[in-house]
Amino acid sequence: MYLAGLARWDTGVVPPEVVRLAEGDWLARAGRVLDLGCGTGASAVFLAGRGHDVTGVDLSGVAVRRARSRMRRAGLAHRCRAVTADATSLHRDERFRDSRYDLMLDVGCYHGLGQAGRQQYAQMVARLLAPDGHLLLYAHLDGALAAPEAPVPWRRRALLALIRRLGGREPAPRPRREAVESDLGSFLALVSCEPGTDRGRPSAWFHWQRSDRASLPANRWLVPGPASRS
Ligand SMILES: C[S@@+](CC[C@H](N)C(=O)[O-])C[C@H]1O[C@@H](n2cnc3c(N)ncnc32)[C@H](O)[C@@H]1O
Repeated sequence: MYLAGLARWDTGVVPPEVVRLAEGDWLARAGRVLDLGCGTGASAVFLAGRGHDVTGVDLSGVAVRRARSRMRRAGLAHRCRAVTADATSLHRDERFRDSRYDLMLDVGCYHGLGQAGRQQYAQMVARLLAPDGHLLLYAHLDGALAAPEAPVPWRRRALLALIRRLGGREPAPRPRREAVESDLGSFLALVSCEPGTDRGRPSAWFHWQRSDRASLPANRWLVPGPASRS
């Protein structure tokens, strides 16, 4: 996707939700951040610039090389690194054996996984998230929200047709909100969820916190707001 110039999400813009997060009280102190599916590293560099120690992982070697270059250009390579790795198996990856993170950020990685991948992802989060740690997760969802039924955009239809013709693996269907909650809700508490739409498709920002201390309010949904991915 990156080499072919098809990574339409790769705008270099840090999502406003991530900016808001960095300005929030609970992330005020410097912490260890893991950016899952970091792409070319815009959010990772932003958070490193706010004093956090950031590791980005991505399956795409091209994205990781571009992220490293962004980190060097920003003069933040001492606080920020990018690693080519599969987010669903970091808990079995020697390089992450002793790593624990105060914040995991995922803008668009989890929602592309199939059911088995999502279960492994949950195990990875359970293993690498520090006590009291937070997970900020942005995902496209299956049509579970009150969004109008949206036609599949022609670009996506064309891309899927091309993948089929080339015999490639089609992207996994997006998870339903209930599936996200069942994947992660057994060990994380949902602090908030902001549903929205992204080009007519349902999406949501989920803020989870490790719930080993049962000190969080009951799950609560925020009022649906405007879509805001980019
Ligand atoms: C929609 S893009 C978003 C990239 C970046 N977070 C951003 O906001 O620009 C999703 C990214 O997740 C990566 N990805 C997908 N599956 C992954 C996996 N299992 N492990 C690590 N990265 C993955 C893709 O290569 C891609 O860079």
